[in-house]
Amino acid sequence: MRFDNDTVFITGAGSGIGRATAVAVAEEGGFVVATDVNEDGGQETVDAVEDAGGEAVFHELDVTDAEEFDAVVETAVDEYGLDVLVNNAGVGHPPAYAEDVTDAMFDYVVDVNLKGVWHGCQSALPHLKDQESGAIVNVGSLASFLGLPKQAVYSLTKGAVLNLTRAVAAEAGPKGVRVNAVCPGFIETPLGDQFFESQSDPEKAKERTEEQYPLKRLGEPEEVADAIAFLASDEASFVTGHGLVVDGGFSTS
Ligand code: NAI
Repeated sequence: MRFDNDTVFITGAGSGIGRATAVAVAEEGGFVVATDVNEDGGQETVDAVEDAGGEAVFHELDVTDAEEFDAVVETAVDEYGLDVLVNNAGVGHPPAYAEDVTDAMFDYVVDVNLKGVWHGCQSALPHLKDQESGAIVNVGSLASFLGLPKQAVYSLTKGAVLNLTRAVAAEAGPKGVRVNAVCPGFIETPLGDQFFESQSDPEKAKERTEEQYPLKRLGEPEEVADAIAFLASDEASFVTGHGLVVDGGFSTS
């Protein structure tokens, strides 16, 4: 079992990739602290973990709130321990040229996608460094490497998440803590669907996108979860500061 007796703390665990990661980790023996702003979604994740024979608790957490992040991490450390943090919570934005992005949209996406990851690192690192073990996995995107048109804010946050991952990995490595990122292409989740729904013909837009992938399909959340589980586990014991692309070959074709 990859996560025997380990506690894995996941943000944005109430849906999509976060939920799939919770189930994958629990199937490998990990105890899951599922957190999200969406309480109903979080509870459904706890149910999914229990249905898979695992154990999980839910704590409400808005990653944009640094104090709340500290408090929930502290509770986790006191009550269950903390071995892995998965900074997964993220949001998209409607397609827009950079010059048309409002300050409100900019702030919202930066707050969740970038400051949320920053807060997670700040909250968890003191504990992980003290115990001289543990791992952080941040969820980036293909947009960590590519500048996507009409997705400038999303792209800037995901590019920053990858470089933050590298910097924190360099700092935390000497203390035995690994920090990596998973960078998915299009994945079938509510967030992925949002993008297609913003297009004039969502079905056509989805077909066109699938056609651009060598594997001729979009990814499943479970396929990203497996990559997260790998980076979080001891199987990746000599991997740190890395952005693992999970994109069905899109970026290399
Ligand atoms: P999703 O929309 O299914 O799940 C995101 C979760 O984050 C939701 O449960 C939502 O309630 C939660 N969340 C939103 N704001 C929050 C906040 N302030 N605090 C705490 N939780 C919050 O999306 P999905 O696709 O599972 O996305 C997960 C991560 O994967 C995100 O970081 C996203 O950017 C990234 N990603 C997704 C891709 C896709 O095609 N679905 C592609 C590349 C990256």
